[in-house]
Amino acid sequence: MKIISGPASKELAESVSNITGYQNVPIVSKIFPDGESYVRLDGSVLGEEVAIIQTTCPPMQDGKLFQLAFMADAAKRGGANKVTAVVPYLAYARQDKLFLSGEGISVETIARMLRASGIDNLLTVNIHSEPTLAQFPFSAKTVSAISLLAKYFVEKGYKKAYALAPDKGAMYIAQEAQQVLGGGAGHLSKVRDRYTGQTMQSGEGLDVKNQTVIIFDDIISTGGTIVGAAKILKEQGAKQVFTACVHPLLIGDAAKRILDAGVEEIIGTDSVPGPYSRVSLASIISNQLKGAV
Ligand code: R5P
Repeated sequence: MKIISGPASKELAESVSNITGYQNVPIVSKIFPDGESYVRLDGSVLGEEVAIIQTTCPPMQDGKLFQLAFMADAAKRGGANKVTAVVPYLAYARQDKLFLSGEGISVETIARMLRASGIDNLLTVNIHSEPTLAQFPFSAKTVSAISLLAKYFVEKGYKKAYALAPDKGAMYIAQEAQQVLGGGAGHLSKVRDRYTGQTMQSGEGLDVKNQTVIIFDDIISTGGTIVGAAKILKEQGAKQVFTACVHPLLIGDAAKRILDAGVEEIIGTDSVPGPYSRVSLASIISNQLKGAV
């Protein structure tokens, strides 16, 4: 297998290449003056199975998706016999059903575009909703990075911290963290108005008084969910509040708002490279590629 190092995930691809020993095929990329993307494989993939590592997080998630499709096309034209897309953050994964009449299912459209570009299978990390993958026109798998995030806190001395999910749907995430932390786990309730996007949060019956609490989520976007959760936890007497997520999008001043709300630290992965990406996905991606996904 060879690793194609997508422009959006260069460092992660290099780490995966170092761990697996699979050769890294560099990419020459540029954006034309009119905003269009250009990519070129700078090495042979003839007769090879390849894994393209390219996250599709903001900013410019559409451009990153196009780069991914262009790299897959280039790999197939260059004679690769199988193309796996490793997309730690898959853009549009939250539009995975029809919430309102007149909508489309964006993530399914993306998957069909990727199939047309030559991608044979896909590996992603903590996709918002796993059943989505069953609708993709190729084999697709999601792996979880939650235990890596929880281990980060154990190593910092927070074993037995309480793992909190910001909504019921994310309870599986809190439970995965709890397996590593060995403390309590619970969830808040969150209801979203589908027209305005506003959310209402509440939390009853949590046993967080005087506890160190870590709020785990798949994505932090505007930070509104974590700010609201931190407020509830403080009101209920939590001693310290941390937050950890797989995909730290942290749009605009989200990080500042979260820290201003009294959260001690924000931890994310290099699914979205940035100042809060303290945990690398390289080990779990390497394990998957070694097992041929
Ligand atoms: C939604 O259900 C996700 O799991 C996250 O909770 C959500 O995307 C976070 O968004 P925000 O940071 O904008 O509140």
